Amino acid sequence: MNPRLDRLQTYPFQKLSALLEGAQPKPGLRPIPLYIGEPKHDTPAFIKQTLCDSLSGLAGYPATIGTPELRQAIAGWLKRRYGLNEINANTQIVPVAGTREALFAIAQAVVDTEKDVYPIVVSPNPFYQIYEGAAILANAQPVFLNNVPQNKYACEWDSLPSTVWQRVQLIYVCSPGNPTGHVMDLDEWRALFELSDKYGFAIASDECYSEIYFDEAKPPLGALEAAQKLGRTGYPRLIVFSSLSKRSNVPGMRSGFVAGDAAIMKKYLLYRTYQGCAMSLPIQAASVVAWQDEAHVVENRRLYREKFDTALAILEPVLPVEKPEAAFYLWVRTPGSDTVFTRRLFESQAVSVLPGSYLAREAHGVNPGTNHVRIALVSSTEECAESARRIRDFVTSQ
Ligand SMILES: Cc1ncc(COP(=O)(O)O)c(C=O)c1O
Repeated sequence: MNPRLDRLQTYPFQKLSALLEGAQPKPGLRPIPLYIGEPKHDTPAFIKQTLCDSLSGLAGYPATIGTPELRQAIAGWLKRRYGLNEINANTQIVPVAGTREALFAIAQAVVDTEKDVYPIVVSPNPFYQIYEGAAILANAQPVFLNNVPQNKYACEWDSLPSTVWQRVQLIYVCSPGNPTGHVMDLDEWRALFELSDKYGFAIASDECYSEIYFDEAKPPLGALEAAQKLGRTGYPRLIVFSSLSKRSNVPGMRSGFVAGDAAIMKKYLLYRTYQGCAMSLPIQAASVVAWQDEAHVVENRRLYREKFDTALAILEPVLPVEKPEAAFYLWVRTPGSDTVFTRRLFESQAVSVLPGSYLAREAHGVNPGTNHVRIALVSSTEECAESARRIRDFVTSQ
């Protein structure tokens, strides 16, 4: 077997199960899981209907590059959402079966172990664990950039020396960030593009939370948009990953896309032809109508706003909580150990959150997830309010 499989870390949810093993909440208290970032709103009826109406597509093999209709629908969305002047639906867009598999696969396609036997893949820290596994299985070494409150959870590019940057072949960034909610601004993008130009690495920008934000007038800046604003043409070495899962409440549909640098996209498409992750035709048809509609996305955001306003009003007096810039997580500093907090909270209130240390690695002398927990505000407003009251009662009883 591939020995690198043994270097893959246990997934955070499994670590949480082990942490909570044997913990007995008070009898009669209904358990409320807030540890997983799975959207819970209903899938819009028109998306389900289109899927049903398109089932005849099951009789055909889909092409890896997707239908022209889907790529056009994605290009149209990118132009409307980010004001892009330049995005070619034939050479710069590929549909993917959710961003998870695509984020994993990109490292296999990009990393060149003939150029360097120890290539580096950079990841934010805390981070979505797929980035690390992708790096390891692409025979690269993951290196982390810590996201800490002192720096408003931005990546500190200067914390890596030039000797490291010289060996970097791929960097993952996540904006809006999971778990911190941090949105990269134009200055952060400018600095990252300058590093990419200097050292030649590819940028994989994970934007799967781009449509979950709180101020309708201030949608998060996207990487392609930042590139255009900075006068770059052709999105050199940049590819973005976007998804319908959170935007349209269809995590089970497995639908997203990758877009950017045509030279990378061409090779990536070749890789994917072998990988065999082509999107089923009925899913492609349902994805077309989802990307074309914004009304359900606006309503989706209204529901998240309601949950955050409700939960924050209850938690603010007792915990250092802040509304994130975007995404649907509260990233909260705990009074003491995050794992102790998590287990005691579960024992006393049957509410399960995710210890921050499980979402991060020790790097530059610290684990930046330590003494934080991630709370996913995804269930109904009533349930979010109930869980916030239970967390408040737990904190005040300590
Ligand atoms: C940061 C981040 N990226 C990517 C994904 C994958 O989403 P999907 O595969 O549903 O597009 C997730 C899922 O939770 C995530 O949190």
